[in-house]
Amino acid sequence: MSVSVYNRSNTYLQSVKVRGVMTKSMEAFPNTGKLEIIQGGMGVAVSGYELAGAVAREGATGLVSGTAIGVVLARRLQDGDPSGEMREALDHYPVPQIAEDIAKRYFKPGGRAENERYKAVPMFDYEPVQMAADLAVVGAFAEVWLAKKRSQGNGHVGMNLLTKIEEPNIHTLYGAMQADVELIAMGAGLPVEIPRYMGQLAMAEPVRMPVSVKGASREYAVEFDPARYGGEHHPVSTPRMLAIITSDILVRRPFMSAKVPPDGFIIEEPIAGGHNAPPRGKLRDERGQPVYTERDYANLEKMRDTGFPFWLAGGYGSQDGLERAKAAGAQGIQAGSIFALSEESGMGERLKREMREKILSGDDIEVYTDALASPTGFPFKVGQIDWTLSDNGNYELRQRICDLGYLREAVETTRIRRGVQETVVVYRCPSEPVEDFVKKGGDLQQTLGRKCICNALLANIDMGQVRDGGVELPIVTIGDDVNRTVREVGLPLSAKRIIQHIRGDDVS
Ligand SMILES: Cc1cc2nc3c(=O)[nH]c(=O)nc-3n(C[C@H](O)[C@H](O)[C@H](O)COP(=O)(O)O)c2cc1C
Repeated sequence: MSVSVYNRSNTYLQSVKVRGVMTKSMEAFPNTGKLEIIQGGMGVAVSGYELAGAVAREGATGLVSGTAIGVVLARRLQDGDPSGEMREALDHYPVPQIAEDIAKRYFKPGGRAENERYKAVPMFDYEPVQMAADLAVVGAFAEVWLAKKRSQGNGHVGMNLLTKIEEPNIHTLYGAMQADVELIAMGAGLPVEIPRYMGQLAMAEPVRMPVSVKGASREYAVEFDPARYGGEHHPVSTPRMLAIITSDILVRRPFMSAKVPPDGFIIEEPIAGGHNAPPRGKLRDERGQPVYTERDYANLEKMRDTGFPFWLAGGYGSQDGLERAKAAGAQGIQAGSIFALSEESGMGERLKREMREKILSGDDIEVYTDALASPTGFPFKVGQIDWTLSDNGNYELRQRICDLGYLREAVETTRIRRGVQETVVVYRCPSEPVEDFVKKGGDLQQTLGRKCICNALLANIDMGQVRDGGVELPIVTIGDDVNRTVREVGLPLSAKRIIQHIRGDDVS
């Protein structure tokens, strides 16, 4: 593996160590043309480097997903890295030894044998083992580095992270910053302190990020030191930061009172693909779906009054969507579903093909807002496809197992060891085997209808783990507006044509 000089080209913004306050936020986005269309982050690796790179190449903004990115790198290497791009990115990692250790452990020339299981990747807890930590950093670096290469410097490349998956976030952010990520978009919780941590990382300072532990009698924290990853010798810039929220109320508190506020907001409305915020009311429709009302939409007039730039998401992936968003005072839109079915998306070819064919033949993909499926307890939009886990029969047949663990909850508990009582942190997930969850103090009721989103999302991108009974099945998340927008663009459904369509250009 060659040693390469780390190159910080292609930054569209200057390195600013401490970002401006609200009134300066607009200055953070000097070129709004490129930021009119944001292709939203879609985990796991549905918005991979191919998609984000293709979007950015068209002069728009593409976000790679940072979720479980260490596992994605390890599995791509075990699949033989047919295009050689993973190894190319590893060759450019600033600390060659770390990249070499990863390649040594996971790269399989020619890929896995048929029915060979993927090697386990150690689960990420608040004190991660070294390999888990390194995979998160280097996986994020590789994803951003490759997207930027494909973008040819035309648009912007950013990364999406979920606040709720706390433990790997600082590692993932740092790896992305090492590849000069230009924008971070984070939702699924309130990423209030993240801009401050990014400032510390840019100064190569260690970060200590407290994490949630239920019933904690003391503070638990993830500790990250850039020194291990060459921090002192390879300076990094601070990317812009957008918080993904659903309500304008959150802008004033907690974000405006944060030491370093975000640079803007993405307002996500309830028809968006992925996880949705729970509605304010408790009503369910006749199929058990949460019912969203006016109260679940942000007040855009108040949003404009805050002075922060904002983007709208959830049913805006079309020309009229962009027009509506701009008329409401937004800088632009964030779209996901239409891009999820694009040629460049990481979603498995069979899933994409079947969904596109169904929609274009005039049939709709039925989208169910599942209040139970996700271990997070948040509603999750699920495309109904009979051979996936959206089918109850398939769900019932799956043997529960938790071996990726991104959505686990940390709980402090006590145990007796050699006659002595000690305090420990255990991790549990309502989708793990029911008896394990209950043994760790979990409520049986919480396990009902819960699906293993971690394994299913890897299966979505054709990286399902091999089990005794076959390969893990996918679960597709997609937004309610997918049928309309896919029909509008038609085939070929490339990132280029989608962007032309949204911009209202002649579609070639
Ligand atoms: C397949 C898929 C996966 C998604 N995964 C994530 C995710 O990991 N993190 C996130 O913040 N949003 C996620 N989203 C939401 C998108 O980033 C985007 O906000 C949303 O799709 C916009 O609404 P639309 O689906 O109507 O275009 C996902 C959406 C889809 C369709």
